[in-house]
Amino acid sequence: METSELPLPFPAGRPAAYQVLQEEPSFDPGRPLALEMRTKTTDLAALGYQQADLAECASDFAVSNAFRILSEEGVAAMRQVCELIYQNRNASEGTGANRLGSYARGAGYRSRFIRDFCDSRELAEHISAIAGVSLGRHSVPAVACGINYAPEDLNRAIDTWHVDSVAFDIVMMVSDPSTLKGGEFQYFHGTKEEGQALLGISGEEGVDAALPEDRVITVPFPEAGFGFMQQGTHIFHRACRLLERAERITMIPSFEVLPASAPDATNSLNMADWEDPGICPELARFEIRRTAARLEQLLHSIDLDDSPGGLSERIDGALARLVSFSDKLGGKSQ
Ligand SMILES: [Fe+2]
Repeated sequence: METSELPLPFPAGRPAAYQVLQEEPSFDPGRPLALEMRTKTTDLAALGYQQADLAECASDFAVSNAFRILSEEGVAAMRQVCELIYQNRNASEGTGANRLGSYARGAGYRSRFIRDFCDSRELAEHISAIAGVSLGRHSVPAVACGINYAPEDLNRAIDTWHVDSVAFDIVMMVSDPSTLKGGEFQYFHGTKEEGQALLGISGEEGVDAALPEDRVITVPFPEAGFGFMQQGTHIFHRACRLLERAERITMIPSFEVLPASAPDATNSLNMADWEDPGICPELARFEIRRTAARLEQLLHSIDLDDSPGGLSERIDGALARLVSFSDKLGGKSQ
């Protein structure tokens, strides 16, 4: 297998703010995983996306129903690990930089169990079959292994209406959903542009407001250990506030399109403004790796009859994302 067909290895070391769990279960794929196939999918066209929109997407897959991912043993281990990480979750209160109520991105820095789960080949192959495109664990550790918790303040939504900065992710329920009042995961049955226009917002960041009820779909989670998959850059979605205090933990593993030379909709320019420790170097690794793969592909496609203008266009095309990302970094104050 070519290197570009494999996920980029995790970076060596970890940012100082992340605390490593000293004791945790070990991940042996045969035991925690119990992958089952989804029974329902919705495609982007059904949500109103047009041919021109689909041409920009790696797949026409939009969203699936929830399917089993973890065994009972896997759920118990994942819940234990997520509860331990809660004490070292990201600081979000008061920064204004993040719409999430309470979360731990980069959970793979804290837990080997979560890192191995998100990095498992079995999981990537399973969700590639669902999405209809080859996917691997995301190169950016902040989003490769994310955990959402319910905020302490019951008036706050777990996550407000938004689209994701990565194209493909799973939302997996770690807590027992039968114990929850409120906390539903919902998506808008329409395009993101339509949903954003109804709420009067733009870009990726969210707002806690209501959309027409007949256009809102609630995704049922039969049990802990079930998760659904979405093309998150095109699904306008939210997690509602809890109506009663309860443990509500979801695990959000993210994926990127492979081989690394293929188009991928990860929004590095948006993510560069996140406050996660190490996020800019993580994104730089991602963009450099994918640009290198595009250049490698270009190298092998050069023909001695190619015109100077055509070559220039193709070189610029291969470099464009990295140049924009570097410009973005250069414009940041630190
Ligand atoms: Fe999301």
